[in-house]
Amino acid sequence: MSHPAPRNILVTSALPYANGPLHLGHMLEQVQTDIWVRFQKSRGNNCIYVCADDAHGTAIMLTAEKLGITPEQQIADMQASHEADSAGFSIGFDNFYSTHSDENRIWSETIYKRLEANGHIAKREISQAFDPEKQLFLADRFIKGTCPRCKTEDQYGDNCESCGATYSPAELINPVSAISGATPIEKDSDHYFFKLPEFQDMLKQWIDSGTLQPQVANKLREWTEAGLQEWDISRDAPYFGFEIPGAPGKFFYVWLDAPIGYLASFQNYCERENLNFGDYWDLGSQAELYHFIGKDIINFHGLFWPAMLHSAQLRTPTAIYVHGFLTVNGTKMSKSRGTFINASTYLEHLDAEYLRYYFAAKLSASVDDIDLNLEDFVQRVNSDVVGKVVNIASRCAGFLRKGFDNTLTEECAEPELVGEFIAAGAQIGELYELREFNKAIRQIISLADRANQYIDEKKPWVLAKQEGSEQEVHQVCSVGINLFRVLLTYLKPVLPVMAQKSEAFLNCPLDWTDLQAPLLNHKLSKFKPLMTRIEGKQVEAMIEASTQQPPAATLDSKKKKAASKGAPPSPSTIEFDDFAKVDLRIVEIIAADHVEGADKLLRLTLSLGDSECQVFSGIKDAYRPEDLVGKLTVLVANLAPRKMRFGMSEGMVLAAGPGGEDIFLLEPHAGAKPGMKVT
Ligand code: MSP
Ligand code: ZN
Repeated sequence: MSHPAPRNILVTSALPYANGPLHLGHMLEQVQTDIWVRFQKSRGNNCIYVCADDAHGTAIMLTAEKLGITPEQQIADMQASHEADSAGFSIGFDNFYSTHSDENRIWSETIYKRLEANGHIAKREISQAFDPEKQLFLADRFIKGTCPRCKTEDQYGDNCESCGATYSPAELINPVSAISGATPIEKDSDHYFFKLPEFQDMLKQWIDSGTLQPQVANKLREWTEAGLQEWDISRDAPYFGFEIPGAPGKFFYVWLDAPIGYLASFQNYCERENLNFGDYWDLGSQAELYHFIGKDIINFHGLFWPAMLHSAQLRTPTAIYVHGFLTVNGTKMSKSRGTFINASTYLEHLDAEYLRYYFAAKLSASVDDIDLNLEDFVQRVNSDVVGKVVNIASRCAGFLRKGFDNTLTEECAEPELVGEFIAAGAQIGELYELREFNKAIRQIISLADRANQYIDEKKPWVLAKQEGSEQEVHQVCSVGINLFRVLLTYLKPVLPVMAQKSEAFLNCPLDWTDLQAPLLNHKLSKFKPLMTRIEGKQVEAMIEASTQQPPAATLDSKKKKAASKGAPPSPSTIEFDDFAKVDLRIVEIIAADHVEGADKLLRLTLSLGDSECQVFSGIKDAYRPEDLVGKLTVLVANLAPRKMRFGMSEGMVLAAGPGGEDIFLLEPHAGAKPGMKVT
């Protein structure tokens, strides 16, 4: 094998927002990036992987306010939580930083001043919705009201969840601020704009440069051809972010300083590691620069970001690598179905390597969505990794330990077979390079099939019982171990923990650039199980833990989780006063209907005697809707109403029993009248 000069590569994943924990969608992106980075490192390239939390914006400010903490505290808690989750998935960041940092402030100011000096900033007055109570300008998603088309109440911003209409927030009937409930007024203020249309030609070149995925280039072309708009990069105080130089009371819009966070994190890394920042970011840099992102943020990375870099006389990315969205069991992740799975919840129930493998087996260079089908997940990991790959080592290890002092033969009995495995590395490497991980995995698993086939044919367990066949047992098992070594070297970017355990067992590093010759006359260490099978019940427990609880509990546990990251959740107790706040009422179920698109939910119409309310309840497993009508149950009557995909849920019904099919409701009873308080 020839050794080309090592490449210098800088890689980023999108910066996760600091206003919530990481979920499996984030992990899809980080795992994809991490596999690619680990692969590059394994080939001897200088590859640096940086990321950061995206710490600015109104949402973070409001979240902190709700939690009664400062934004600084909120972003520190979240950063700790994000870092713990990423570490749990073996994401090997070389640096994880924050956009709320000095480096980022300085770079944001510097870049802004360069844009301004180049005449790329415009200032003009615009009129926007304003919350007179909160004294805050309202982004679309912070305004709600009645849908102008179907008249459904309580619709957010610019689209109706009920009828799908899109409109401007000004068209909402009875608009209110989602923050304070006040009626928004229109108010003028000065805004600063980045003159994107002036970059039409530059962007056209970038889009046609051939480094972008075809679907991404097409999307960008569509936008540029539709006519580029000036981009509003300022927000009025109060805003959690960086104040714009020379514009008191104006702040950079979070999306201005977010990508600059890539520079900031890298600069922070350079200072620590004594590296030259300019080698990677100056115009004409020979280093490669890649941003891994999801398909929802193509415009920011494919238009605004390259244009800003260009104006600021910095190099533009070599490419942006866009992936699709993660779906679970074929649909969008859903809190009510328990498929909106936080990274930490996953880690409480399952080994990260299972998911790394499954993602790798599905990821390609396309922007298509990726489905985590939970049954397929269990089946595939158990069959491929445990049943095929690990099996090779575990079948051979016992014989070598018992009969041959754990030492491999001095000569290789199947040089051709081992040679073929090694030769396959060229194509597998090419597939990793192209981010065609699913194809790489397919090749690796078909090699694993061949290794198992070889062992099946030779039957060392039969040979071991035959007089005079010791040498052959030794040979077969030594070949098996050598094949295993090659496979684990190829899988190392995907399964770093299993690779590490295998290195301990094989007593040698798994080094892609050092695969030329088989291991001979080499002593192994004790074999320890490398991976256990996934049990279906682990997945069930994870889904159960992800099924949404009422909002009050979610907020509270979020705060606790951020504070006690890593510690097992402690059973929380409540004081009597807290309990006394719960208004429990007897209610009669007067109607129970199926909910389109929800497997477990029923829409219950409940009578409180003098009033009615609607609640969505997950008791479909236990009762046929028609059997519920006329039954009594207990309602938490003062639970804050919750907007669900299907409509408002105005409380929660309580029932006794272990759940699933066994839930017990009350039969009508003379002493129990709808509306009665339960004490
Ligand atoms: N803060 C911005 C990114 C700034 S980059 C300069 C942001 N944050 S995010 O937390 O919403 O998303 C972070 C990354 O996760 C994005 O690339 C986004 O596409 C990705 N994903 C978020 N949900 C996802 C799925 N369900 N599936 C796959 N990736 C998704 O956007
Ligand atoms: Zn509507």
